[in-house]
Amino acid sequence: MRACVRPRGVEPPSTFPFAFLFLLGNLMLLPSPQHYSSRGTDVRDLPQSSRPRTSTKESCIRTNWRSPLAPAPHSSGDRRTPGVGSNESAAPTSFRCCCRFSMEMEGILQAEDAKDWIYKGEGAANLILSYTGSSPSMLGKVLRVKKILKDKSQPAPSCMVFSSFEQLLWGHIPELVESVKQDCLAQAYAMHVMSQYLGANHVDGGVRVQVSREFLELVEKNVLDSRPAWRVNASSIDTNADAALLIADHSLFSGNQKGSSCIAVEIKAKCGFLPTSEYISKDNSIKKQVTRYKMHQHLKFHQGEISKTSEYNPLDLFSESKERIRTAIKSFISTPQNNFRIFVNGSLVFGGMGGGADNVDPDDTDKYIEDLNKVSGLELPDFTELLSETIFKSGVLGKLLTAQKLDDHDIEGAIHLYYNITSQPCSVCKNITDVELLRKYTLLHSLPLDKSLKIVRDFLISATAKDCSLMISFRPRESGTTDSEYDSVFLESAKQTYEYKAYFVDLDVKPLDKMEHYFKLDQKIVNFYTRNGDVVPSPKGSKH
Ligand SMILES: Nc1ncnc2c1ncn2[C@@H]1O[C@H](COP(=O)(O)OP(=O)(O)OP(=O)(O)O)[C@@H](O)[C@H]1O
Ligand SMILES: *[C@@H]1O[C@H](CO)[C@@H](O)[C@H](O)[C@H]1NC(C)=O
Ligand SMILES: *[C@@H]1O[C@H](CO)[C@@H](O)[C@H](O)[C@H]1NC(C)=O
Ligand SMILES: *[C@@H]1O[C@H](CO)[C@@H](O)[C@H](O)[C@H]1NC(C)=O
Ligand SMILES: *[C@@H]1O[C@H](CO)[C@@H](O)[C@H](O)[C@H]1NC(C)=O
Ligand SMILES: *[C@@H]1O[C@H](CO)[C@@H](O)[C@H](O)[C@H]1NC(C)=O
Ligand SMILES: [Zn+2]
Repeated sequence: MRACVRPRGVEPPSTFPFAFLFLLGNLMLLPSPQHYSSRGTDVRDLPQSSRPRTSTKESCIRTNWRSPLAPAPHSSGDRRTPGVGSNESAAPTSFRCCCRFSMEMEGILQAEDAKDWIYKGEGAANLILSYTGSSPSMLGKVLRVKKILKDKSQPAPSCMVFSSFEQLLWGHIPELVESVKQDCLAQAYAMHVMSQYLGANHVDGGVRVQVSREFLELVEKNVLDSRPAWRVNASSIDTNADAALLIADHSLFSGNQKGSSCIAVEIKAKCGFLPTSEYISKDNSIKKQVTRYKMHQHLKFHQGEISKTSEYNPLDLFSESKERIRTAIKSFISTPQNNFRIFVNGSLVFGGMGGGADNVDPDDTDKYIEDLNKVSGLELPDFTELLSETIFKSGVLGKLLTAQKLDDHDIEGAIHLYYNITSQPCSVCKNITDVELLRKYTLLHSLPLDKSLKIVRDFLISATAKDCSLMISFRPRESGTTDSEYDSVFLESAKQTYEYKAYFVDLDVKPLDKMEHYFKLDQKIVNFYTRNGDVVPSPKGSKH
């Protein structure tokens, strides 16, 4: 078992206890080290209690991600494999320099700072706060604090400690191993694993900040009324945590320009392809024809978690066809569930609060859309056009799909390797009667450990990619602007150019011991669908 609680005050072993990791490419977007350095930031701008002192220890560590087949340039003992999930037979990858900046931040968010943080949203594992104070260093940022489940029998949703088997999986990535010691795994996993697939310009690891127990206790009390009741019942802020992540608010632009509103959407796109794995049993072959999303919707409806199935078809959104992307966005508007939200100037104006799964009442939808029009100045068709054009043009979903497709064995294949990695007898093979299939599974079981590790690692990276959210924010480009750091799209109907940025959020590593859960859930979803088929009255317009 893992020990997930690190008692307050007990510092993890580390050479740089206050180290923060950065990637060079993100310096412009992250709260950058310069922010705290001599370059103009007035200490008086910072919240009273959290004035970080900048003794910036900057050390540029060259990490040579190269193929094991390529001759090692230096130490013969260097057994580092190339970047996770990378094509191992590929030519030596180009030299990449990872710069690590470590920064001492003396400040701690204290009781008196709590009033500046309000509820923004939450998922199963984290609660997100937005900053309302006036310190320039925190403006436009969110704080992501860990939660604990009230039901103690449930496993901790976010565990920051590697089991010995996880050490096998991720141990070849020095930054991850180090981050575990420093309790900033979420940050390091986003920056060093997920960004390889999603692109460093779409991933923001954030900065770790220390928080006092009093700060967390006060925040917990202050946000209580804003949280959905079922979330309050299920979880609360982990007041034992001694740090939280400070991340740019990706429903806002930094340095908002006067006069124009920022419109942002959050899309939980879910799995965008149909699996083709040869390890999928005949009984489950429906998986190759019907999306996981649709089948899961049926189970959720049956279990009373949703009052109506969604019209959203992930294959439309990922299709690279503008027409089908538009269809997907229309389905989000009519049945947003927890897959779609709209923010204006950082405030939620459409979609479920607190990660709620149920639909917006259709009567309310019209009202929300009217409001959207009022606050953003965009009619719904224009908004749909702007969003579909951006998704089409940015190619950002293509990146997400690549990461998702690392799962090429399907859980029905990967589960066998999980049992080998954890040295457990395979409880799936025990049950298989199909000789041909059993032969395939036996072959999987005879793979060498490094192959098994790669398959399970890729499965877990894919699991994160299937579960994360994409935030895209827009603002009208001021006429005359030519040199913007942001990409833009031209909205023909409104004769207006919009700047946009796209960031993935919730890129946490999935625990290895979730594999059995994934397998059982998959069986449950597929069994329910094959037994009941399309029993739920299909929402109109849904053809998937
Ligand atoms: N950087 C950010 N900027 C703006 N909003 C954010 C940011 N990060 C998170 N959010 C909001 O907070 C919500 C919850 O955050 P997040 O998905 O990280 O929580 P989680 O508990 O890890 O989720 P899950 O239930 O998937 O584990 C998001 O859906 C999003 O609306
Ligand atoms: C890996 O790279 C080699 C050489 O570039 C290529 O032939 C092969 O198809 C690639 N394999 C995968 C899985 O991408
Ligand atoms: C509250 O949580 C408990 C378990 O933690 C659960 O049994 C109960 O059904 C929940 N109640 C509501 C109203 O969600
Ligand atoms: C959003 O913020 C901008 C800049 O501060 C402001 O001009 C605009 O009126 C705001 N929009 C809404 C709907 O509040
Ligand atoms: C993998 O698991 C199978 C079945 O449990 C077992 O027979 C086999 O010896 C294991 N292989 C390795 C390499 O550990
Ligand atoms: C094995 O099959 C039986 C009957 O089909 C089923 O009840 C049981 O849950 C299965 N066990 C596993 C581990 O899948
Ligand atoms: Zn097996």
